[in-house]
Amino acid sequence: MKLSADQLKAFDEQGYVFLPNCFSEEEIALLRIEGEAILKADRQEVWREKTGAPRTAFAAHTFSEVFRLLVSHPRLVGPLKQYFGEDVYVHQFKLNAKAAFEGDVWQWHQDYGTWARDDGMPQARAMNIAVFLDEVMPINGPLLLIPGSHKQGVFEAGHDTLTTSYPLWTLDKHTVTRLCRDAEGAHGQGIVAPTGKPGSVLMFHGNLVHASPPNITPYPRKIVYVTFCACSNHITKFTRAEWIAHRDFTPIQPVGDDALAEYARAHRVAAE
Ligand code: SIN
Ligand code: MN
Repeated sequence: MKLSADQLKAFDEQGYVFLPNCFSEEEIALLRIEGEAILKADRQEVWREKTGAPRTAFAAHTFSEVFRLLVSHPRLVGPLKQYFGEDVYVHQFKLNAKAAFEGDVWQWHQDYGTWARDDGMPQARAMNIAVFLDEVMPINGPLLLIPGSHKQGVFEAGHDTLTTSYPLWTLDKHTVTRLCRDAEGAHGQGIVAPTGKPGSVLMFHGNLVHASPPNITPYPRKIVYVTFCACSNHITKFTRAEWIAHRDFTPIQPVGDDALAEYARAHRVAAE
Protein backbone atom coordinates (compact mmCIF):
# COMPACT_ATOMS: atom_id res chain seq x y z
CA MET A 1 0.00 0.00 0.00
CA LYS A 2 1.22 3.52 -0.86
CA LEU A 3 0.08 6.94 0.38
CA SER A 4 -1.26 9.40 -2.20
CA ALA A 5 0.27 12.85 -2.75
CA ASP A 6 -2.68 14.39 -0.85
CA GLN A 7 -2.18 12.04 2.09
CA LEU A 8 1.55 12.83 2.21
CA LYS A 9 0.77 16.56 2.16
CA ALA A 10 -1.78 16.22 4.98
CA PHE A 11 0.74 14.14 6.94
CA ASP A 12 3.39 16.81 6.52
CA GLU A 13 1.04 19.58 7.70
CA GLN A 14 -0.82 17.80 10.49
CA GLY A 15 1.58 15.04 11.54
CA TYR A 16 -0.81 12.15 11.07
CA VAL A 17 -2.87 10.32 8.49
CA PHE A 18 -5.97 8.27 9.27
CA LEU A 19 -6.82 5.36 6.96
CA PRO A 20 -10.25 3.79 7.61
CA ASN A 21 -11.09 0.19 6.57
CA CYS A 22 -7.53 -1.02 5.99
CA PHE A 23 -8.06 -4.51 7.41
CA SER A 24 -11.12 -6.71 6.86
CA GLU A 25 -13.40 -8.11 9.56
CA GLU A 26 -11.84 -11.54 9.01
CA GLU A 27 -8.31 -10.20 9.53
CA ILE A 28 -9.31 -8.16 12.57
CA ALA A 29 -11.18 -11.08 14.19
CA LEU A 30 -7.96 -13.10 13.98
CA LEU A 31 -5.90 -10.29 15.51
CA ARG A 32 -8.45 -9.59 18.24
CA ILE A 33 -8.78 -13.23 19.36
CA GLU A 34 -5.00 -13.63 19.43
CA GLY A 35 -4.57 -10.28 21.21
CA GLU A 36 -7.12 -11.11 23.91
CA ALA A 37 -5.38 -14.44 24.63
CA ILE A 38 -1.99 -12.70 24.93
CA LEU A 39 -3.34 -10.00 27.27
CA LYS A 40 -4.50 -12.76 29.66
CA ALA A 41 -1.07 -14.42 29.75
CA ASP A 42 1.19 -14.26 32.77
CA ARG A 43 4.44 -13.22 31.12
CA GLN A 44 6.95 -10.38 31.52
CA GLU A 45 5.89 -8.68 28.27
CA VAL A 46 2.33 -8.12 29.56
CA TRP A 47 2.09 -5.07 31.83
CA ARG A 48 -0.93 -4.40 33.99
CA GLU A 49 -2.79 -1.40 35.35
CA LYS A 50 -2.71 -0.82 39.11
CA THR A 51 -6.06 -2.71 39.22
CA GLY A 52 -4.55 -5.78 37.53
CA ALA A 53 -6.34 -5.20 34.21
CA PRO A 54 -4.04 -5.63 31.20
CA ARG A 55 -2.44 -2.40 29.92
CA THR A 56 0.18 -3.31 27.31
CA ALA A 57 1.52 -6.46 25.70
CA PHE A 58 4.98 -5.73 24.31
CA ALA A 59 6.82 -7.63 21.57
CA ALA A 60 3.96 -9.97 20.66
CA HIS A 61 5.35 -10.21 17.11
CA THR A 62 8.32 -12.14 18.57
CA PHE A 63 6.19 -14.92 20.05
CA SER A 64 2.95 -14.87 18.02
CA GLU A 65 2.87 -15.86 14.34
CA VAL A 66 -0.30 -13.78 13.85
CA PHE A 67 1.41 -10.58 15.05
CA ARG A 68 4.60 -11.46 13.14
CA LEU A 69 2.43 -11.43 10.01
CA LEU A 70 0.91 -8.10 11.07
CA VAL A 71 4.29 -6.32 11.51
CA SER A 72 5.37 -7.72 8.13
CA HIS A 73 2.13 -6.69 6.45
CA PRO A 74 2.51 -4.57 3.29
CA ARG A 75 -0.38 -2.32 4.37
CA LEU A 76 1.79 -1.19 7.32
CA VAL A 77 5.33 -1.62 5.98
CA GLY A 78 4.53 -0.07 2.56
CA PRO A 79 3.66 3.49 3.71
CA LEU A 80 6.60 3.54 6.17
CA LYS A 81 9.17 2.44 3.56
CA GLN A 82 7.67 4.96 1.15
CA TYR A 83 7.91 7.77 3.72
CA PHE A 84 11.46 7.05 4.90
CA GLY A 85 12.73 5.98 1.46
CA GLU A 86 14.56 2.97 2.88
CA ASP A 87 14.04 -0.34 4.68
CA VAL A 88 12.54 -0.34 8.17
CA TYR A 89 12.83 -2.57 11.24
CA VAL A 90 10.52 -2.93 14.26
CA HIS A 91 11.75 -0.74 17.13
CA GLN A 92 8.78 -1.46 19.40
CA PHE A 93 5.51 -3.39 19.42
CA LYS A 94 2.66 -2.58 21.80
CA LEU A 95 -0.83 -3.96 22.07
CA ASN A 96 -2.56 -1.41 24.30
CA ALA A 97 -5.70 -2.79 25.90
CA LYS A 98 -7.34 0.35 27.37
CA ALA A 99 -9.60 -2.12 29.17
CA ALA A 100 -13.30 -1.47 29.83
CA PHE A 101 -13.71 0.58 33.06
CA GLU A 102 -10.01 0.16 33.99
CA GLY A 103 -7.88 1.39 31.08
CA ASP A 104 -5.75 4.22 32.50
CA VAL A 105 -4.40 7.52 31.15
CA TRP A 106 -1.39 8.05 28.85
CA GLN A 107 -0.03 11.48 29.70
CA TRP A 108 0.92 14.04 27.01
CA HIS A 109 4.15 13.01 25.31
CA GLN A 110 6.13 12.66 22.09
CA ASP A 111 7.28 9.15 21.21
CA TYR A 112 10.58 10.32 19.76
CA GLY A 113 11.33 12.10 23.05
CA THR A 114 11.53 8.67 24.71
CA TRP A 115 13.32 6.98 21.81
CA ALA A 116 15.97 9.73 21.75
CA ARG A 117 16.52 10.01 25.51
CA ASP A 118 16.21 6.36 26.52
CA ASP A 119 17.33 4.53 23.37
CA GLY A 120 19.78 6.96 21.70
CA MET A 121 17.82 7.00 18.43
CA PRO A 122 19.70 9.52 16.23
CA GLN A 123 16.78 11.22 14.43
CA ALA A 124 12.97 11.24 14.38
CA ARG A 125 13.07 8.77 11.48
CA ALA A 126 10.74 6.31 13.22
CA MET A 127 7.03 6.37 13.85
CA ASN A 128 4.02 4.48 15.05
CA ILE A 129 1.46 2.98 12.78
CA ALA A 130 -1.60 1.92 14.76
CA VAL A 131 -4.24 -0.68 13.94
CA PHE A 132 -7.61 -0.46 15.73
CA LEU A 133 -8.72 -3.91 16.97
CA ASP A 134 -11.89 -2.53 18.58
CA GLU A 135 -14.05 0.39 17.55
CA VAL A 136 -12.39 3.58 18.81
CA MET A 137 -15.06 6.05 19.89
CA PRO A 138 -14.99 9.54 21.42
CA ILE A 139 -16.00 7.90 24.74
CA ASN A 140 -13.64 4.93 25.22
CA GLY A 141 -10.25 6.58 25.63
CA PRO A 142 -9.28 7.48 22.04
CA LEU A 143 -5.86 8.78 21.16
CA LEU A 144 -5.77 12.60 21.35
CA LEU A 145 -3.43 14.34 18.88
CA ILE A 146 -2.35 17.99 18.61
CA PRO A 147 -2.24 18.71 14.86
CA GLY A 148 1.01 20.27 13.65
CA SER A 149 2.82 19.72 16.98
CA HIS A 150 5.45 17.57 15.20
CA LYS A 151 7.07 20.60 13.57
CA GLN A 152 8.99 22.02 16.53
CA GLY A 153 11.38 19.21 17.41
CA VAL A 154 11.62 17.59 20.84
CA PHE A 155 10.21 19.55 23.79
CA GLU A 156 11.58 19.53 27.30
CA ALA A 157 9.93 16.79 29.31
CA GLY A 158 9.85 15.35 32.81
CA HIS A 159 10.29 11.64 33.44
CA ASP A 160 6.97 10.46 34.84
CA THR A 161 7.48 7.18 36.66
CA LEU A 162 4.57 7.60 39.08
CA THR A 163 1.18 8.39 37.56
CA THR A 164 0.91 5.26 35.43
CA SER A 165 2.53 1.83 35.30
CA TYR A 166 4.62 2.84 32.26
CA PRO A 167 7.49 5.38 32.65
CA LEU A 168 7.19 8.14 30.08
CA TRP A 169 8.81 11.52 29.29
CA THR A 170 5.78 13.81 29.60
CA LEU A 171 5.15 17.45 28.63
CA ASP A 172 4.02 20.21 30.99
CA LYS A 173 0.61 21.91 30.90
CA HIS A 174 2.06 25.18 29.64
CA THR A 175 3.59 23.55 26.53
CA VAL A 176 0.43 21.56 25.77
CA THR A 177 -1.74 24.69 26.14
CA ARG A 178 0.52 26.70 23.81
CA LEU A 179 0.57 23.92 21.19
CA CYS A 180 -3.24 23.62 21.30
CA ARG A 181 -3.59 27.40 20.74
CA ASP A 182 -1.20 27.15 17.76
CA ALA A 183 -3.20 24.22 16.36
CA GLU A 184 -6.50 26.10 16.76
CA GLY A 185 -5.07 28.89 14.60
CA ALA A 186 -3.40 26.71 11.97
CA HIS A 187 -5.75 23.72 11.78
CA GLY A 188 -9.05 24.93 13.28
CA GLN A 189 -8.85 22.45 16.17
CA GLY A 190 -6.49 22.25 19.15
CA ILE A 191 -6.96 18.52 19.61
CA VAL A 192 -8.28 15.80 17.33
CA ALA A 193 -9.35 12.29 18.30
CA PRO A 194 -9.40 9.98 15.25
CA THR A 195 -12.21 7.47 15.75
CA GLY A 196 -13.38 4.58 13.62
CA LYS A 197 -14.22 0.96 13.11
CA PRO A 198 -11.89 -1.96 13.84
CA GLY A 199 -9.45 -2.29 10.95
CA SER A 200 -8.76 1.45 10.74
CA VAL A 201 -5.11 2.52 10.67
CA LEU A 202 -3.46 5.66 12.06
CA MET A 203 0.09 6.67 11.17
CA PHE A 204 1.61 9.52 13.20
CA HIS A 205 4.93 11.36 13.28
CA GLY A 206 7.41 10.49 16.06
CA ASN A 207 7.32 14.10 17.31
CA LEU A 208 3.52 14.50 17.27
CA VAL A 209 2.27 15.36 20.79
CA HIS A 210 -0.41 12.92 21.94
CA ALA A 211 -2.14 11.40 24.97
CA SER A 212 -5.22 9.38 25.85
CA PRO A 213 -7.75 9.64 28.70
CA PRO A 214 -8.90 6.75 30.92
CA ASN A 215 -11.61 4.44 29.65
CA ILE A 216 -14.55 4.53 32.08
CA THR A 217 -16.95 2.82 29.65
CA PRO A 218 -17.88 -0.87 29.20
CA TYR A 219 -16.28 -0.74 25.71
CA PRO A 220 -12.66 -1.91 25.45
CA ARG A 221 -10.34 -0.01 23.09
CA LYS A 222 -7.57 -2.29 21.90
CA ILE A 223 -5.03 -0.72 19.53
CA VAL A 224 -1.80 -2.27 18.21
CA TYR A 225 1.10 0.15 17.73
CA VAL A 226 3.99 -0.95 15.56
CA THR A 227 6.95 1.42 15.72
CA PHE A 228 8.97 1.17 12.53
CA CYS A 229 12.40 2.80 12.42
CA ALA A 230 14.45 3.51 9.28
CA CYS A 231 17.24 0.90 9.35
CA SER A 232 20.00 3.53 9.02
CA ASN A 233 18.58 5.28 12.13
CA HIS A 234 18.79 2.34 14.53
CA ILE A 235 19.14 2.93 18.26
CA THR A 236 22.55 3.30 19.90
CA LYS A 237 21.77 2.99 23.65
CA PHE A 238 20.46 -0.15 25.27
CA THR A 239 18.95 1.02 28.57
CA ARG A 240 15.58 -0.70 28.17
CA ALA A 241 14.78 -4.39 27.94
CA GLU A 242 15.28 -5.92 24.48
CA TRP A 243 11.54 -6.68 24.29
CA ILE A 244 10.67 -2.98 24.86
CA ALA A 245 13.29 -1.40 22.54
CA HIS A 246 14.40 -4.02 20.05
CA ARG A 247 18.03 -4.56 19.05
CA ASP A 248 17.39 -6.63 15.94
CA PHE A 249 17.78 -4.11 13.10
CA THR A 250 17.06 -6.61 10.29
CA PRO A 251 14.90 -5.04 7.54
CA ILE A 252 11.31 -6.31 7.57
CA GLN A 253 10.52 -8.39 4.50
CA PRO A 254 6.85 -7.82 3.66
CA VAL A 255 4.58 -10.87 3.43
CA GLY A 256 1.82 -11.21 0.82
CA ASP A 257 -1.18 -8.91 1.12
CA ASP A 258 -3.44 -11.91 1.84
CA ALA A 259 -1.16 -13.48 4.50
CA LEU A 260 -3.45 -12.70 7.47
CA ALA A 261 -6.62 -13.76 5.63
CA GLU A 262 -4.94 -17.01 4.54
CA TYR A 263 -3.76 -17.69 8.09
CA ALA A 264 -7.32 -17.10 9.36
CA ARG A 265 -8.75 -19.58 6.86
CA ALA A 266 -6.06 -22.19 7.43
CA HIS A 267 -6.47 -21.87 11.17
CA ARG A 268 -10.22 -22.42 10.95
CA VAL A 269 -9.74 -25.44 8.68
CA ALA A 270 -7.19 -26.89 11.11
CA ALA A 271 -9.58 -26.33 14.04
CA GLU A 272 -12.48 -28.18 12.37
C1 SIN B 1 1.04 5.65 23.27
O1 SIN B 1 1.03 6.84 23.24
O2 SIN B 1 2.08 5.05 23.01
C2 SIN B 1 -0.19 4.86 23.58
C3 SIN B 1 -1.39 5.64 23.89
C4 SIN B 1 -2.64 4.83 23.91
O3 SIN B 1 -2.64 3.64 23.54
O4 SIN B 1 -3.68 5.37 24.24
MN1 MN C 1 3.04 7.41 22.39
